Amino acid sequence: MSLFGQSLLADTDLKAAEIDAVYALATKLKSGADSSRYLQGKHLALVLEKTSTRTRIAFEVAIKRQGGFSTTLEYATSQLGLRESIADTAAVLSRVYDMIAYRGTRHVDLVNLQAHATKPVVNALTDMWHPTQALADYFTMQEVKKTSWHDIAIAYVGDGRNNVAHSLLTTGAILGADVRIASPESLQPDLGIEAMSLELAEVSGAKVLVTDDPIEAVLAADFVYTDVWVSMGEALDAWNERISLLRDFQVNQELLTATKNPNVRFMHCLPAIHDRNTDIGEQIASNYGYDNGVEVTDEVFQSKASIVFDQAENRLHTIEALLVLLASDTYGKTL
Ligand code: CP
Ligand code: NVA
Repeated sequence: MSLFGQSLLADTDLKAAEIDAVYALATKLKSGADSSRYLQGKHLALVLEKTSTRTRIAFEVAIKRQGGFSTTLEYATSQLGLRESIADTAAVLSRVYDMIAYRGTRHVDLVNLQAHATKPVVNALTDMWHPTQALADYFTMQEVKKTSWHDIAIAYVGDGRNNVAHSLLTTGAILGADVRIASPESLQPDLGIEAMSLELAEVSGAKVLVTDDPIEAVLAADFVYTDVWVSMGEALDAWNERISLLRDFQVNQELLTATKNPNVRFMHCLPAIHDRNTDIGEQIASNYGYDNGVEVTDEVFQSKASIVFDQAENRLHTIEALLVLLASDTYGKTL
């Protein structure tokens, strides 16, 4: 098994053993047990069509910690989009960089970029998938539960057909976890992705449940996860529809209590709308009366159950391990 030279476009590109290898190295990197510099002199291009905080800092710091370098290219300040095609950009970046990470709106653009690149390409979020997020999240869950995947139950409640929900569902199915998605019917995962997850679950022993009943989904869950109700790139006027569809899918104390698990943890990929302290939080609060959070209440977000900042930190450790496995001439090739 080797990830060397591979690309990660979607969660389905990784096998369980490869995820385990990422986690084994991420654990050593996080604890300081391995301070080698596996990516000395390697260069990473991070291309951002959309904004980012966590993913950007994780990639930039990860490569630097491994002795390499990064350039972040944004659409507004590069030739991409307006004057240069994805294909030509991929060819240019491949001549100069050892790896390319891409955050874009349309998943097909990422597929196109990889088709024209000769170096590993990593999905840093598209409309369909957010694989490096799920990688960090299952690592975080295992840190908390310290048990096998079959004993880890996660209930994702909210917009079930967004990138984060798709990635959590699929990676959970690959690993063998108990994954439940609770969303109204029109926001349930893409049917193709759900079918693929069911197939993966047959191999791994995972349990997969898609339901429109949040109470059913959270019963006995170890982790309750949510994400924003309107994702980046979606029209702002989607809020009206989402609020009416997702009103009963907010993660609040009542929902955590419905897990009947006193040790339940709350997860969110971030950024979250949990109070009025952002422009969008303020707008939604004044337009719809959500004073204390939208997809999650501030009470839950700030509670002891919340592990959202552990997730954010683990983006770094897991992305660092992933980059080593994809591009290190020493560690990656000999695995
Ligand atoms: N969770 C996540 O991807 O955060 P950013 O959008 O800040 O990168
Ligand atoms: N679903 C969110 C995730 C952000 C990390 C979005 O795409 O905006």
